[in-house]
Amino acid sequence: MKKVVLAYSGGLDTSCAVKWLKEKYRLEVICFSAFIGEVKDPEKLRRRARQAGASKTYVENLKTEFARDFILPSLWAHARYEGKYPLATAIGRPLIAKHLARIAEKEKADYVAHGCTGKGNDQVRIEVGIRTLNPKLKIIAPLRVWEFSSREEEIDYARKHKIPVDATKASPYSIDKNIWGIAIEAGILENPWTEPPEDAYVMTRSPAKTPKKPRYITIEFSRGVPVKLNGVHKSLVDMIESLNRIAGIYGVGRFDMIENRLVGIKSREIYEAPAAEVLLQAHSELESMVMDREFIHYKRVVSEKYAQLVYFGLWFSPLKQALDQFFKSNQRRVTGRIRIKLDRGHATCVGRESSYSLYSEKLATYSADDQFDHKAAEGFMKVWGLPYEGMAKRR
Ligand code: ARG
Repeated sequence: MKKVVLAYSGGLDTSCAVKWLKEKYRLEVICFSAFIGEVKDPEKLRRRARQAGASKTYVENLKTEFARDFILPSLWAHARYEGKYPLATAIGRPLIAKHLARIAEKEKADYVAHGCTGKGNDQVRIEVGIRTLNPKLKIIAPLRVWEFSSREEEIDYARKHKIPVDATKASPYSIDKNIWGIAIEAGILENPWTEPPEDAYVMTRSPAKTPKKPRYITIEFSRGVPVKLNGVHKSLVDMIESLNRIAGIYGVGRFDMIENRLVGIKSREIYEAPAAEVLLQAHSELESMVMDREFIHYKRVVSEKYAQLVYFGLWFSPLKQALDQFFKSNQRRVTGRIRIKLDRGHATCVGRESSYSLYSEKLATYSADDQFDHKAAEGFMKVWGLPYEGMAKRR
């Protein structure tokens, strides 16, 4: 019997997919689940997969790898799609693709499968990832081809085949969550004029319900990596999870946007990413202090491109990887401390300090200690403005 490795979430779609792949394709189904957000009960997940018909299960906690190899490069790139979305889902998919390919090779499977729909970006990220890593693997996307056209039909199918269906009422939203953030779509959010109801948010408090007094936190970076929170050493995963909790209480990191999907449609999405919001700000504020003007301005341009490549599923592409090397190249200098104020939905950098700082108070000051050569400015302007002076004279 040929084998397929299925990216399994434990939800209704992928549970039906296990049975459906066995029935339609006569394949042996091996389920793979990665924990990169909450660590759910692994035994429960295995049991569900087996009940649905899986012959074998891989349930792996991949948070550390996710933080090191996927979040950190995105942080260094200051990656936000269309200026807002910190790409949590978009960077989770290539990790899934990587492990699907790894397990398929180990199990000598000919196929991999996933539970993405035909309308989203996620199918692209997984499939382009797989094809880049191992073009021999054949890919099946049950949700694009199967006969079910509603949740009710899937539930009937599940009942018929004794696949466990969660008794709890399904959320009206489609949610994808990992430690870098959460994406929430569908339901009432599809109306772009409607304000997202409070119950749509999972990780953050409403700014109306945040503590009255602001809170100050300090983040210390060493070579681009956030290593201490309020003076206490933290692993990257712990840092991110702590910041999600702390900044979430202050309602930080909510986004409501219309975004341009790769598949051509515009969609209304809401995101919550408290830790990403704080860390992206903190990192770029520190970089502003330790890098020169040309570097910073150029980086902003390629950062936009980088976010598009990642959003478009090109994580394993040569340009994306070359840009990673560029962003990595100056991280040694990104060492120092940033002070952030959390207050009613906002995280604001209010202090910075680094032994690599290029900021000179003696040059910047307007006080008597000023060491800036004001006279030199005159000659500078003469030369800088020369081309335009020439043009004006010719008019
Ligand atoms: N629109 C976002 C993206 O393309 C989020 C996708 C979320 N996926 C989901 N199954 N809810 O990255």
